[in-house]
Amino acid sequence: MSSLRTVLMLIAGVGLLLSVGCGGGSSSGGSVVVGFAQGGSESSWREAETKSIQDAAKDAGYDLRYANAEGRPDQQVSQVRGFIAQGVDVIVVAPIEKTGWEDVLNEAKDAGIPVVLVDRGIDTQDESLYATLIASDFVEEGRMAAQWLVDNKPGGARIVELSGTPGADPAIDRKKGFAEIIDEHDGFTIVESQSALFEQAEGKNVMNALLLRADLEFDVVYAHNDDMALGAIEAIKGAGLDPGEDIIVISIDGVKAAFESMVAGDLSATVECNPLLGPKVMEVIGQLMDDEDVPHRIISEDKLYEASQAAEALPTREY
Ligand code: AHR
Repeated sequence: MSSLRTVLMLIAGVGLLLSVGCGGGSSSGGSVVVGFAQGGSESSWREAETKSIQDAAKDAGYDLRYANAEGRPDQQVSQVRGFIAQGVDVIVVAPIEKTGWEDVLNEAKDAGIPVVLVDRGIDTQDESLYATLIASDFVEEGRMAAQWLVDNKPGGARIVELSGTPGADPAIDRKKGFAEIIDEHDGFTIVESQSALFEQAEGKNVMNALLLRADLEFDVVYAHNDDMALGAIEAIKGAGLDPGEDIIVISIDGVKAAFESMVAGDLSATVECNPLLGPKVMEVIGQLMDDEDVPHRIISEDKLYEASQAAEALPTREY
């Protein structure tokens, strides 16, 4: 009897050692536990990103713990802290703002939990605070939008810019890339720049107010995402103007509704920004769990679509 008990205890001990030795995998019945700190639900792009990460985690057999800060940076930092306290194997963050990350990421580093940044970067002097950033090149997206404009409106333009959430990586970099190109060409001026928080309803509100201003004349709207552009188009139509004719609207993201708007002749161009990052995120997590090296920056390739390409591309759009 006592020798049987000894054998059973030995088997249990070996099992425990194996599960601890396998790194990621100890905390949830054997599967890798991933904490995903999403920043919000402000746009259809972000909904597509969330779904892509959730679906890919399921396909990979990972245990995904999901938190959404709904646009509140402090809340997002607390949620990351919560994942550290839970002892997850890896943390995925889509940062709302670029700043404010050093303390909590140092805490993750001290706890030995790798951090994967998705879709937006952060400001830090210490690159070792995260394993990788998987995202588009937002400066390049801004450049592509501006290049389309200077090519298609060579006489110049008075531009209203609808910018994204203040402090967010894409709002900062899409502004920068766009300005870089128009500054090289005479006659292109940003006459007004206002944030509409990446939201369609806010895009409409801001545009309604701008259209009422007697001191402001413009013929182009450059929106940092499609949702704000679609809201602006509603306002432009509501004011009895023709988007695409009286006011040219260009934006970034490439969501399905933007393609539909281009087919309808309202939106003139959009730069694709791929939100379907889930499969790449899971691939990287697998590599991290196997202690493999991963590139510190993984860039999603984007391209611009203009209205003439929209009808053909629409059926193939996945988000
Ligand atoms: O970080 C990506 C940006 O955030 C998308 O362009 C925008 O739609 C979203 O809200």
